[in-house]
Amino acid sequence: MTEPRPSWHSNVGFLLAAVGSAVGLGNLWRFAYLASESGGAAFVLVYLVVIVLVGAPLLVAELAMGRSAREGAFRAPGRLVGRRLEWVGALFVLTGFAILSYYSVITGWTARYLVAVARGAVERDTAAQFAAAASGGAAVTWHLVAMALTVAIVAGGVRGGIERASLVLMPALFVLLIALAAWAATLPDGGAGYAFYLRPDPARIWRLDTFTSAVGQAFFSLSLGMGAMLTYASYLQKGGSLVREGFVIALADGSVAFAGGLVTFPIVYQFGLQGQVGESTVGALFIALPHAFATLGATGRIVGTAFFLALLIAALTSAISLLEVLVDAVVARTGWSRRRAVVLAGGATALAGVPAALDLRWLGAADRIAGNLLLVVGGLIIAILTGWIWTGADAELADGFPHPRVRRAWIWLLRVAIPAALALVLVGAVRDALGVIAAAIR
Ligand code: PHE
Repeated sequence: MTEPRPSWHSNVGFLLAAVGSAVGLGNLWRFAYLASESGGAAFVLVYLVVIVLVGAPLLVAELAMGRSAREGAFRAPGRLVGRRLEWVGALFVLTGFAILSYYSVITGWTARYLVAVARGAVERDTAAQFAAAASGGAAVTWHLVAMALTVAIVAGGVRGGIERASLVLMPALFVLLIALAAWAATLPDGGAGYAFYLRPDPARIWRLDTFTSAVGQAFFSLSLGMGAMLTYASYLQKGGSLVREGFVIALADGSVAFAGGLVTFPIVYQFGLQGQVGESTVGALFIALPHAFATLGATGRIVGTAFFLALLIAALTSAISLLEVLVDAVVARTGWSRRRAVVLAGGATALAGVPAALDLRWLGAADRIAGNLLLVVGGLIIAILTGWIWTGADAELADGFPHPRVRRAWIWLLRVAIPAALALVLVGAVRDALGVIAAAIR
């Protein structure tokens, strides 16, 4: 017997779960190293513009697809447009699988650091400590711990697991972040960090690579382009404005990324850690910040614990949305019970993540290919689909726009501007991915 399709208990529950999906490692770990790589404030500025003009409109499209289809990522494209587009659903699920496999590895590092910092067990040489944490049996073990936590929440169901966890965890995350940003503001030499982060260099704003990394980051951070938001929206009842919802989610996500920078950059500059953040991309946060926390003694222990707790919460509420996409797909495909599907999807992803746990280069490559390339491909498909092919979008969003002009602007963005911008980004992303693959083969 198949179980009835789940639904959210309340709209707030849905919103917090969706914001929970968006706010994740991307906002702190990925955002921090991209911003330092791409010129600080210039990147931040371009990023915020991309969130509004590309991210939010696409997010609205994804939400509309999900609520209209009442099917998750796997089935929705076929349901809305017909069998010839069933492969899109498969692409979404595959992307989610790839992302979760390494996302869980980083979540594992986070859990491990939370324990280490809370116990005051940060070593002097934080680079060496990170190298040990990110390889071998330790990394695999903590990856499995992270996966087990994710499985435990998702097994509780959409209401009893995902929604309940989000209702508790997200407010806790906001409080922690605000407290951390307030503390960072008291650092005497944090000023240089704020300047780097907040005063844009005009020459960097107009560079194509700044734009490309901002777009990739917007997709990753908004959980866009693989049907995670779509799947969450498929558990919504009709009614309620998805336009407003989409913008609220995008705004919340952008604000958390921004606030995250207000925490990390003053710390990084206070302790002269710029070099460390710039050099080791994936390890940046885990090498630089513990160094600062270790220097600060008892205060560092408290602040560090708060920081890694916030990061773990952010990571888990995103990981559960990735797993939910897979679970929904398994249920749709096999008709199994949710519990059985969770075990299968969680187990398969846990296995697939082992290479990323053992090898940082693998993790970095997976992040570049799945996190940049595949998500952007997915976004391009969603734009073309809702802009040109699937005719139900208008009806699904009827009355949702605050003004007819906003609606016309949205349609124009989806049909013309976003596909053009994404095509441009894809040229760079494909070149980048080929480079990554070539380097791996050599
Ligand atoms: N948005 C999440 C983050 O910023 C990552 C994510 C990507 C989650 C894609 C779901 C789907 O960390």
